Amino acid sequence: MFETLKILPPDPILGLGQEFLKSDHPNKVNLSVGVYKTDTGNTPIFKAVKAAEQHMIDEQDSKVYIAQQGDPKFLQGMHTLLLGEELSKSLADRSSVCMTPGGCGALRLAAETVFNANPNATVWFSTPTWGNHFPLIESAGLITAEYPYYDHTTGLVDFDAMLAALEIIPAGDLVLFHACCHNPTGADLSKSQWDQVIDVAERQGLIPWFDIAYQGFGKSLDDDAYSLRIAAERLPEVIVVASCSKNFGLYRERTGAALFINKNAKQAEAAKTNAISLMRKSYSMSPFHGGGIVGTILSDAGLTTMWKDEVIEICAHVQNLRQEFTDKLNSKQSKKDFSFITQNQGMFSFLGIELEDALKLRSEYGIYILNSTRLNMAGLSSANIDYVTDSIAAVLNQ
Ligand code: LMR
Repeated sequence: MFETLKILPPDPILGLGQEFLKSDHPNKVNLSVGVYKTDTGNTPIFKAVKAAEQHMIDEQDSKVYIAQQGDPKFLQGMHTLLLGEELSKSLADRSSVCMTPGGCGALRLAAETVFNANPNATVWFSTPTWGNHFPLIESAGLITAEYPYYDHTTGLVDFDAMLAALEIIPAGDLVLFHACCHNPTGADLSKSQWDQVIDVAERQGLIPWFDIAYQGFGKSLDDDAYSLRIAAERLPEVIVVASCSKNFGLYRERTGAALFINKNAKQAEAAKTNAISLMRKSYSMSPFHGGGIVGTILSDAGLTTMWKDEVIEICAHVQNLRQEFTDKLNSKQSKKDFSFITQNQGMFSFLGIELEDALKLRSEYGIYILNSTRLNMAGLSSANIDYVTDSIAAVLNQ
């Protein structure tokens, strides 16, 4: 039977990580997959996570199934983390959270729930968007379309083009927004631009769908949720999918959440029960461990403070790297002004160099960035930043 299957190419992001491991280049640097590294090149377990895990080992006395929707402490903790205290309370009756296997699981679960509600739904993505958005959402049967977002000449958002495109999206369509730290470009909207976007969504009857995978890595935990909070405050239906991979450092634990905000309590119950039924048909329920850690942290004031401090430290470290990288790169070549990188947020920026040069960086210098020229700022360190900027300058100056 399996003779009918074609061998598939590796994933453009995760596959490059595997290719990196095989490379025997003596100076190789992996700036492909979005993983945070300290200055010594390590991706440490957060102290708050270690403490929560220890607490769980000490306290847990059973591995019996939990409720399909997820660990109650996780569900409440994520509801509040995403919406903020006030909105979390005021929307409690017409919203629900499900614990999911990672942000991908949240996207897929939300997509399937949307498909159950409206099999003809169209989801609009920014151009560009994270490479896995298309396969994840199209696999659920939804139709996809694109709105302009990034201006390759400025390295920032082409806001006028974006807004004009949103103005003509038909009512009832879903629009996927990166709540903060846009992946792959790092180009984010300001608060007043978000206000305008939500004005259009309200006027047009659009359903915003926020993907928030880097909360706390842009400006702050609260500022990074601004977009989804004003949407949730003003609009009848909003979807939010969150990942705990980056801001809790739980990558391999596959921990995420899907939040549905509905018109009323009855519709919220319908969205939740449909999501639970979809889980049952696929993987029955999310694994517990990662959600258990997040729930333990977010339900304990001391651990929450410890965790928030760690997120602030990471965010500052990546911002410093952006500045240092840009200063070095601008001083080493004059072909391109990279100052836009200091205005981008989160882990990523496009270098905006030719594909041929990106491939040369990989083959000749062992520097792995994506073909789109997306570079993971958080993979830079004092040990490699000179080598990386020298190499990019050398390639550009050739
Ligand atoms: C990335 O964009 O590098 C991360 O979100 C990891 C992934 O799954 O692609």
